[in-house]
Amino acid sequence: VEVMAVHYIQRGRELRELDVERENDHTWFLSQEWVGMALYANAFAEDLQGLGRRLGYLQELGVNLLHVMPILKCPAGASDGGYAVSDYRNVDERVGHLDDLRELAGKLRKRDMLLTLDVVVNHVSDQHEWARQARAGKQRYQDDFYIFENRDVPDMFEETMPEIFPETSPGNFTWDEDLGQWVMTVFNHYQWDLNYGNPAVFIEMLDILLFWANQGADILRLDAVAFLWKKIGTTCQNEREAHLILQLFKDCCQVTAPGVLFIAEAIVAPLEIIKYFGEDAIIAKECEIAYNATFMALLWDAVATRNAKLLDLGIRSLPNKLDRATWLNYIRCHDDIGLGFDDGDIRLAGYEPRSHRQFLVDYFTGTYPESPARGQPFGRNEKSGDARISGSLASLAGLETAIESGDQEIIGQRIDLILLLHGMIMSFGGIPLLYYGDEIGMLNDFSYMTDAEKAHDSRWIHRPLIDWDKAERRHQKGSPEQRLFDGIRKMIAVRKSTPAFADFNNRELIDTGNPHLFVFMRSNPFELSDHVLVVGNFDDAPQSLTLSDLGNRGEFEYARLRDLCSGEAPSLFKDQLVIPPFRFYWLSSR
Ligand code: GLC
Repeated sequence: VEVMAVHYIQRGRELRELDVERENDHTWFLSQEWVGMALYANAFAEDLQGLGRRLGYLQELGVNLLHVMPILKCPAGASDGGYAVSDYRNVDERVGHLDDLRELAGKLRKRDMLLTLDVVVNHVSDQHEWARQARAGKQRYQDDFYIFENRDVPDMFEETMPEIFPETSPGNFTWDEDLGQWVMTVFNHYQWDLNYGNPAVFIEMLDILLFWANQGADILRLDAVAFLWKKIGTTCQNEREAHLILQLFKDCCQVTAPGVLFIAEAIVAPLEIIKYFGEDAIIAKECEIAYNATFMALLWDAVATRNAKLLDLGIRSLPNKLDRATWLNYIRCHDDIGLGFDDGDIRLAGYEPRSHRQFLVDYFTGTYPESPARGQPFGRNEKSGDARISGSLASLAGLETAIESGDQEIIGQRIDLILLLHGMIMSFGGIPLLYYGDEIGMLNDFSYMTDAEKAHDSRWIHRPLIDWDKAERRHQKGSPEQRLFDGIRKMIAVRKSTPAFADFNNRELIDTGNPHLFVFMRSNPFELSDHVLVVGNFDDAPQSLTLSDLGNRGEFEYARLRDLCSGEAPSLFKDQLVIPPFRFYWLSSR
């Protein structure tokens, strides 16, 4: 209560006004007007100040929600890209100072742009003060972690806990020489898991969350929330107590900074992800926003198979969300792509789960014959046979291979495929989150291989320094950069003026009988007769859709169909709508 009160008193006037505004319009973030981008301050610009000078570029594209990847102080080498924090109240000097962050937050507010910051709630760096004090033998600090004298308990945990980074940090415990004990380290060996069984941990983390809310963050991204509670005999993910902790964080934040939203970063099974919105929109709320990892992975499945069978089944299996909850829809982010689909859905789509996953890994790492993808494997687990995938969007989608071939037709196809994927995340329902560099087709970046701290982690292949000369080519008509940038810019503008794309559980999937097509209807929640039919063709050949099969859904006048993005009428042959290879339509008959 004291922590909440102190931060309430310290909360600035502008932020309080925003709180009131947002409470009066409590579904404000479900609007179609929000479009996000995740970026590293020091890879997109040099630092936070430089980022402040680049906001014009984001506005040119239409982005109005910025996720600045972790900026808190962390050790130089062992930092997991900023997710191993050594000081939660200071900005890392590599990107600037606290004042720079406050200034950036102010600049964003003036431009009606939202700021998202990370708070790593599950673990701290082994260089964090608590870990140091624990090493110095102080019991009070040892209680913040899971520390064991011998392997008895760790071995019991290991029986049921999966490994997150099997290649680089196998197992879930690390022997600490100074401490002379075993420490639970689910992620990297230098990331010590926090023990939320100790109330002091909760209170300190709440203090940190509210501190960043008061620095001007509109949204806090809570990292690795599925892992917050550990229990012997379980996978130590998605435990009920993890949800209770999040509910309590939400309740407390609601008191002090009610305008601030939480994003759940829980990359877990589809039926588990949805639970991070909470059990109830009011009395047991958790996070307002969650990463739609299911949709992301299913889109990549559709790319590799050139059909939408599993995509369609997977999305149908997702339950409706709570009210006041929305997805973060993305194609790529700073992490690997995990193939966490539901095995049952994979079988229903006609594949065998293990071999299908193997096919996807082979496809995206380019070992499958004729695959144009150029990804790298990540987190291969020899024991379980699992693997995940790294790579930039353009390289995974075959643009790199196409550019090397010099074949203009194939380059065009690959650009269409990248735009198709964006067309899906922009219209699905939720906040589209672009990943920096994808708007100009940044390719894989191998420079990380020369850095000993990074070389073992292939995720760095898709965390490039942005190439501003390449970005300039967005003004060169016909260049891949221009086609991608302008294509995405256009989509964003159309999305913002299409209320049917707001997210109020107003999507209906349509079974068309053509497995290459992913088809859904979006309805304007405020105007019953306003609908948009979204059709995406994942095949490299034209596909057709028989309109009479759709029934009279949405009171569509098929003769008057118009694609909102191009403004043109699509090709019709008799009753058949023809969708060119790797293209999508947002169709309206108004
Ligand atoms: C999250 C981050 C990832 C990091 C992990 C451990 O999953 O997105 O980059 O490695 O947490 O902090």
